[in-house]
Amino acid sequence: MPDLDKSASDAQKSKDFGIGIPMETPGFFLKGSSHLNWGMKNRLSRIFNPKTGKTVMLAFDHGYIMGPTTGLERIDLTINPLIPYVDCLMCARGGLRACIGPEVNKPVVLRCSTGATLLKDLSNEVIGVTLEDALRMNASAVTCQVCIGDEHEKETLDNLGYLVTEGNRYGMPTLGVTAVGKQMVRDSRYLGLACRVIAEVGAHFVKTYFCEEGFEEVVAGCPVPIVIAGGKKLPELDALTMAYKAIDQGAMGVDMGRNIFAGEAPLAMAQAVGAVVHKNEKPEKAFEMYKTLKSEQAKA
Ligand code: R5P
Repeated sequence: MPDLDKSASDAQKSKDFGIGIPMETPGFFLKGSSHLNWGMKNRLSRIFNPKTGKTVMLAFDHGYIMGPTTGLERIDLTINPLIPYVDCLMCARGGLRACIGPEVNKPVVLRCSTGATLLKDLSNEVIGVTLEDALRMNASAVTCQVCIGDEHEKETLDNLGYLVTEGNRYGMPTLGVTAVGKQMVRDSRYLGLACRVIAEVGAHFVKTYFCEEGFEEVVAGCPVPIVIAGGKKLPELDALTMAYKAIDQGAMGVDMGRNIFAGEAPLAMAQAVGAVVHKNEKPEKAFEMYKTLKSEQAKA
């Protein structure tokens, strides 16, 4: 029972209801997300930094199709030291559970598709992780790839539709990944089509590749945030330049793997990428930062 020590009228007088100050009804900082429910927004606010609106996701799900690929032979040794320098982890269930301590307080985007390896057709996937298990792993989003134009386009769209529909039941966002088959061209026409289709099926954010021509149009035509994949290992300045151009043209972050963990100085690279993404640092300056951190870390 409230305010028992005061008379009813004194208690009423000491309350402050802020009469005359309308309650704010703010929108939401992420593109295309203002009509989502509270749980979705809360999860997305863990993935994207609300102060900058951006994210550096560290992708290390490669083993689910590639096995112990170069740089990821030991997730425990490679990934754990990088965790403080990124905003979010993107990985598969087994690698996460076996190699990353549960006390890590970073959001996880959980790879939920399976069924293919690099020895066979990569588009031939099914969903292998239920939403209940994603919730048990305390995921902040679930993800699968969509292979537009590939033999299994329909099945991969079905996988995405399943994750979005089931995720909606629990306030769990879905990241749709554009997987580009060998016979496809990574140009703005293809990427724009793939990103838009994925967003229309209901993905809450989309991962795609940067393209030199027309990336701004890819972003504009996609009604939800886009993050870019890093792709094959590039020289550091090239990778930073790609990240800079993508952010400059509207991407809301990177979901980068090999260009961070497979380099000579992964900790320095993670921090340099962070400066580009969150502080709009120019690539040349971020590269200087990388070199300084690299030599400091070599001495330590
Ligand atoms: C590939 O197996 C995964 O989907 C990766 O998460 C994705 O390709 C991003 O990693 P990277 O920057 O190494 O391309």
